[in-house]
Parts: sequence; structure tokens; C-alpha cells
Amino acid sequence: MEEAFKFQVNNQDFTVNCHPGTSLLTLLRQLGWFGVHRGCDRGDCGACTVWVNDIPIHSCIYPAMRIANQSVTTIEGLSENGELAPMQQAFLQGQGFQCGFCTPGMIMSAAKLPFASPEELRLALKGNLCRCTGYQAIIESILPTSPSPSLHLSDRVSPNKTVQQLSQAKHLTPQILCHLVYYILKYCDRLILTLTSAKLTANQPKHSLALLLSSLMQMSPG
Ligand code: FES
Ligand code: FES
Repeated sequence: MEEAFKFQVNNQDFTVNCHPGTSLLTLLRQLGWFGVHRGCDRGDCGACTVWVNDIPIHSCIYPAMRIANQSVTTIEGLSENGELAPMQQAFLQGQGFQCGFCTPGMIMSAAKLPFASPEELRLALKGNLCRCTGYQAIIESILPTSPSPSLHLSDRVSPNKTVQQLSQAKHLTPQILCHLVYYILKYCDRLILTLTSAKLTANQPKHSLALLLSSLMQMSPG
């Protein structure tokens, strides 16, 4: 028998009638919140993750009736005044997605995960599956959001992110400079190979490096 109850989704009030067997996932999609994705529909993949009173849950196995007088947040409710939330921004910046199907659930889980190391993060994310198997980019997107100072620089930055930051920045910021120095030191052998394969004087690596640095210098700190 249907029952009526009230609840909130993304700070909007709703009054609904629903059957006891209805899942929160089904109810949310019926109400038009299509950012909540239906993957396995049995609690395995995390594509349907939303927050109930700020706690991430798999909405496909959560009875809709338990939401009476509670508050739900979906991926649509994360941004404020058109501004992406920090975790959304982190996924965008780190290119932490391929087809994007798992992404709303990943972001809803990641934004609430406690972790102090990359290993802990991988474990904590076990409730969210990516069918494109793009886990490395996902992990690299989330790691820089950690407040933990114990994470090593190599765990907090990625070459893709640094190149992206470099292309978007008007000035060479200390953070970008620090990442560049890190990669130049880490990959100096590959860097020289790249420069030489680009037909820059193969027997003059110093000259090649000077060319690279002079192009970097054109972005003078502001
Ligand atoms: S759709 Fe809910 S966990 Fe897969
Ligand atoms: S990005 Fe395609 S399922 Fe994760």
C-alpha cells in the first residue's frame, strides 16, 4: 500500500506517495534527478551513490520510505551558485573520468572519504566500480584534495595535471614551478630524448634544455 511522506532533495521539499518496495534510486529518478545512475541495481557498483543526511549510501538498495523527513544530496546539489564543488573541480582538473557513467557516484563517495595514503584511498573507494577501469586517473584526481601532509609529492601531482595547469596559467606560479622542477628532475633522461627526437640538436642536450627553459621563462612570474 502506498504511503505519503515528505523529504528534501538538494534543499528542495518534496511530498511523495510510494510503495514499500521502491528504492531511493527509483524514487529520485522518478523525480527527475538523473545524475543518480542505475548500474548494477544491487549495491555493488556505487553508480547510485547519494548522501542521506551527509552520509554516502547506495541508493539502489536503500528503501525510499526510510527517507521520510530526511535530507538527500545528489550530484546536482553539490555545486553552489554555478560553482563546481572542490571534488567536482578535482575530477575535471585531473581528467578522472572516461565515459563518465561512474563519475557522479565516484564524486559523491570521494568527497566523504577519509584517507591518509594512496593505499587507504584505493581501499576506501572499493564500493565504487569503474567499467572503463580508469582507476589511476580517478585516484590521481582525488589525492591532491587530501589535507594530509604525509602524502608524497609524486602521489599528489600528475604530469597531465601539471601540463593542464601550465597551459591554463597566466603566470608561472610557485606551485607549478615546483611541479615542473620535480618532473624535470624525475624525467630528465626522457626529456632530453623528447627534445632530441623533436630534431633539436641531438649532440647538444644543454642547448636543447636551454631552449626549453627559455620557453618556460617567457611565462614570467607576475
Ligand atoms: S546501482 Fe547501486 S550500487 Fe550499483
Ligand atoms: S568512466 Fe566509464 S564507468 Fe567509470
